[in-house]
Amino acid sequence: MICEDIHSALSHRTAEYDSQQVVVLTTAEVMDCHPEIQDCGFPVLALPSGESNKSLDSVQRIWDFLLAHRITRSGLLICIGGGMITDLGGFAASTYKRGIDYINVPTTLLAMIDASTGGKTGLNYNGLKNCIGSFYSPKETIICPAFLQTLPVQQLLSGYAEMLKHGLLANEEEWNRLLCFDWNTPDTAALISLIESSLAVKQHIISIDPQENGLRKALNLGHTVGHALEEVGLNEGGMLHGYAVLYGLIAELYLSVVRFDFPRKPLQQLADLMIHVYGRPQCKCSDRERLLSLMLQDKKNEHAGEINCTLMSSFGHPEINQIVTTAEMNEALDYLFSL
Ligand code: GLY
Repeated sequence: MICEDIHSALSHRTAEYDSQQVVVLTTAEVMDCHPEIQDCGFPVLALPSGESNKSLDSVQRIWDFLLAHRITRSGLLICIGGGMITDLGGFAASTYKRGIDYINVPTTLLAMIDASTGGKTGLNYNGLKNCIGSFYSPKETIICPAFLQTLPVQQLLSGYAEMLKHGLLANEEEWNRLLCFDWNTPDTAALISLIESSLAVKQHIISIDPQENGLRKALNLGHTVGHALEEVGLNEGGMLHGYAVLYGLIAELYLSVVRFDFPRKPLQQLADLMIHVYGRPQCKCSDRERLLSLMLQDKKNEHAGEINCTLMSSFGHPEINQIVTTAEMNEALDYLFSL
């Protein structure tokens, strides 16, 4: 649900639970921007932010916190934060006492339109993104656009890249509507409408294929290359997920143009966005082999030793399970890094 007042939305939801059985998970960074979370009346665990904390250690801290507050199987975990918190909290909730309820309150654009819906939970393991995880849906996802007001522009752009992916999967009209959005003078009503349609694209796909046996793989568009870039941690201080997805979309649309004659214009539009807004990924020659080796062991692959991508044949027509050779992938990376 999209709401204006997070407090009334939450009190409505938590009224269904014993108040001694409700706890909150968030990050120190979210608490800094929204100190009122501390006064919510429930115990709060604030983890350190950052992808490196999306770890088994953090999951153990959540399990310990749930145990320390004697949370039973009828308890509720409220996850307030970005994708790291909704993924970690969802995983901890799915495994604690074989599963307790959780609610997601996404505070980033990326989490609002992607991570907090669809029931994918997980943590990074052995350097691999979301290598350990489960499908376990929240009881509810409460989206409060007011959180976006305190979000740095890079975080907004990170979410926007996933929205662009949804635009490609929807239709050309939606794509053009997204491209017209002006981030210099953001119009809240227009942004809420784009969030709603972006969510509708994802929800339609997961209603058909909740556990990614087929169609849901369409949502992996841009992610074969994107996850590898994120794992290599190109750029100083790592790379935000949505930035990696934008670069991944460029490489994978390049492959779509070559293999399916997908129109060149959206590829050029993404390249322009990268050059003028996101900035180019920094890549050293030595990163190349690591990128390919990460793609070869991506969890999305069905068979060892091959790279499995989602490509596009036209707007709204994803082509899942496309096996890409290392030579083809190298050509796509050449294109991306030459821009
Ligand atoms: N983020 C892609 C999915 O939820 O399937």
